[in-house]
Amino acid sequence: MTSKIDGDLNDSGLKVSGLNHRYGRQQVLRDIDLEVAPGEILCLLGPSGCGKTTTLRLIAGLEELQTGRITWNDDVLADARDNVPPEKRLVSLLFQDFALFPHLTVAENVAFGLKDFTAEERDARVHEVLDQVGMSRYAAKYPHFLSGGEQQRVALARARAPRPRIFLLDEPFSNLDTRLRNQLRDLCLHVLKKSESSSVIVTHDAEEAMFMGDKVAVMRDGEIVQVGPPEELYFGPNSAFVAGMFGEVNEITGRVVDGHVLTPLGRVCAPNLKEGMEVDVLMRPEALHVTEGGDRTAVASVITSRLLGRSSLLHLSVPNGEDGGLHLHSRVPGRMLPPEGTSVGLSLDEQNVFVFPRD
Ligand SMILES: Nc1ncnc2c1ncn2[C@@H]1O[C@H](COP(=O)(O)OP(=O)(O)O)[C@@H](O)[C@H]1O
Ligand SMILES: [Mg+2]
Repeated sequence: MTSKIDGDLNDSGLKVSGLNHRYGRQQVLRDIDLEVAPGEILCLLGPSGCGKTTTLRLIAGLEELQTGRITWNDDVLADARDNVPPEKRLVSLLFQDFALFPHLTVAENVAFGLKDFTAEERDARVHEVLDQVGMSRYAAKYPHFLSGGEQQRVALARARAPRPRIFLLDEPFSNLDTRLRNQLRDLCLHVLKKSESSSVIVTHDAEEAMFMGDKVAVMRDGEIVQVGPPEELYFGPNSAFVAGMFGEVNEITGRVVDGHVLTPLGRVCAPNLKEGMEVDVLMRPEALHVTEGGDRTAVASVITSRLLGRSSLLHLSVPNGEDGGLHLHSRVPGRMLPPEGTSVGLSLDEQNVFVFPRD
C-alpha cells in the first residue's frame, strides 16, 4: 500500500487556525494557531485545565469544531462548513491509559486498525512496527502476559501501524514510573522521528516537552502564549509565566533605574523597560553561580546543601535588610556541597535571568 503521506517537501502538514471553543458559557480556547509539518513534533505544554486535551480532541474530530479551521496540506478536516469524521482524518491517538483488547493477541491488536491492507501487507506492517518498539517476539502473546511498559510499547505500535498523517499523544507517559517513562519517551522519540506524521504531544512537564519537541507551544487559560524551538523558549521566555513553566525560578522584585534593576546580587540589565517601572526579576537556580572564595558580587550564607545526583541544590540566604534575608536556590555541579552556616560568593549568569513588568 502506498502511503498518502509520502508527499513532497512543500507539504504543509497540520495547520490549525483561529480555533475558538466554548463549553456552555466557558470559553476554553481562544484563537489557537498551530502548524506542524510532516515529520515534525510539536509539544503543547501548559498547566492542567488550560485546554490542551480540548485542542487535541478538536484536531481528532472527537469534538465538533465551533470557530476556526483545521487542515492537512490542502485538505480541510474541519471548518465552518465541513467536518470530516474522525475515522476519515487518518489520525491516531495515544492516551495515558492505552488499553489493549484483552481477547486479542499482540499481533491482532496491532493489526486491528489496518482495514484497507491485504493480509500480506498487514502481516508485514504488524511485524515492522512491533520490531520498531522491540516487541516482535511477543506477537502471539495476550496482553495480560505483558508488563505495563510492554503493553504501552504495543499500544504505541498499534497507534503507528496505520501510518497516520496526524499523531496525537495526550500525556502518554504520565502513568509510568520515572525509569520506565524515560525509556518510553526515548523509544517514542525515535519512532516519531522516523515517521512522516505531524505529531502533537500534550504534556504538563517542561522537561518532557523539551525532550520530545522540535517545537513547544506554551498554553495558558486557552491561549498559546509562546511557540518556538525549546531553546528559544528556555532562553527567551516572553513572560514570567513561560519562564516559570520551565522550572522553579527565584523571584525578586525591583524597579528600573537607568535601564537596570538593582538587586541584592548586583545590577541586572532591563533594556526596553520604562524608567521607574516595577518589575519582577526571575533567576533560574543555575543562574546563581556559587564560589567558595575569590571574586564575589554578593555574599550568601548556606542554609543547607542537598546532593540531587548530577547537580546539587543549595539553599542560600542573602542579606536584604529584612529578617532572615532573601532565600534563594542555586543549582551547582553535584560535588559542590558547602556546609551549613558557611559563607559563599554569588554571581549572576544573565543568560538565565529575566526581567518582566510586575504581574
Ligand atoms: N466535556 C466538557 N464539558 C465541559 N467542560 C469541559 C469539558 N472538557 C473540558 N472542559 C473544561 O475545559 C477546560 C479545558 O480542559 P482540557 O482541555 O481538558 O484541559 P487540559 O487538557 O489542558 O487539562 C477545563 O476548564 C475543563 O474543565
Ligand atoms: Mg488534558
